[in-house]
Amino acid sequence: MKAQLYSDLLRQSQAITEGEPNLIANLANISALLYDTVDDINWLGFYLTDSGNELVLGPFQGKVACVRIPFGKGVCGVGAQSQETQCIKNVHEFEGHIACDSASNSEIVAPIVVNGITVAVLDIDSPSIGRFDNEDAEGFQKIADFCSTLNWPK
Ligand code: SME
Repeated sequence: MKAQLYSDLLRQSQAITEGEPNLIANLANISALLYDTVDDINWLGFYLTDSGNELVLGPFQGKVACVRIPFGKGVCGVGAQSQETQCIKNVHEFEGHIACDSASNSEIVAPIVVNGITVAVLDIDSPSIGRFDNEDAEGFQKIADFCSTLNWPK
């Protein structure tokens, strides 16, 4: 069931970005598609690498969020630095977690890597503890991998 959901979302992400070179427009529409379709989430969006070692808020859906996150800080910064998918069952047990929306209890961060460089992360928050399992993490990471094929600045 979940595998089907994420393969549909991957296909739809490809379809809605096909032929459009504008990165921000494409990330904005992907964030809307994912936020609208995946249940039990309260925030979903992109943080984009800025100045090499910092993330800055990009297209997202949900409440107002922190604007800048240094690499290595919070779930997003650890995902950006390690280039490994973060699947956090309870964010309150994650040392250094950055609370943007107090409703968030679990989180996935999927790094977007181009030529070995982290260009962004896809961040998803849920109000439910333990909302995400390995299938969710793999599904979102595949979508993040697709995002790495978009038109990133050279
Ligand atoms: N919780 C994240 C910060 C971003 S918000 O969830 C939108 C973190 O610890 O990196």
